[in-house]
Amino acid sequence: MINQALRRREFLETCIVRGLLVGAAASSQVHLLAAWEEARAKARKPTPPEDLGPFYKKGAPNTANLRVAREPGLPLRISGRILDTRGDSVHGARVELWHADQRGFYDVQGYRYRAKLALDGATDYQVETIMPGHYPDRPVQHVHYLITAPGCKPLITQLYFATDPFFEGDPEKNYAKSGLVLHRECVRPVTLLDENTSPRSAVAFDLILEKD
Ligand SMILES: [Fe+2]
Repeated sequence: MINQALRRREFLETCIVRGLLVGAAASSQVHLLAAWEEARAKARKPTPPEDLGPFYKKGAPNTANLRVAREPGLPLRISGRILDTRGDSVHGARVELWHADQRGFYDVQGYRYRAKLALDGATDYQVETIMPGHYPDRPVQHVHYLITAPGCKPLITQLYFATDPFFEGDPEKNYAKSGLVLHRECVRPVTLLDENTSPRSAVAFDLILEKD
């Protein structure tokens, strides 16, 4: 998208320099270029796809609070916007997410740490949950996502945490080790907060969808 915008901008600039945009006033040309500049600045790369994994389960509840009373785990808030590759907000998305508990176990009997958010009019999402644990087959903390939205391609992806010991303090260098994480962009920084007496964490993960 960005390259395409650049090519169009270069084409327009060439046309203007060569006087090929005949009939277009100079002010119109300036506005045209400004529009392309704006489009280029807003353009976003699509969120990379990752595997669905074996623990997806249909029927998760539409709830933004996944925490379970008296369950151990560092409280975690995940939030983000739903955008398309033009940088425009996407309405009507359904965001499913699921992850393991602190010990690394998925709830396959029920729906603990599973949600399907119906955003309807909203174009961003937020859930309160806990930091997932590691499990032997995939010893990297992660949250699975399945996102659908009208007019957009479905997206299956995963969120990872830069603070995970798996990355040995350097996600840039170590994200691809063992082949468990496919895309650096899915490893997000973690804000650690210590409000009053209880520590908690927060992560921002925008979801960028491709148009149909
Ligand atoms: Fe998983």
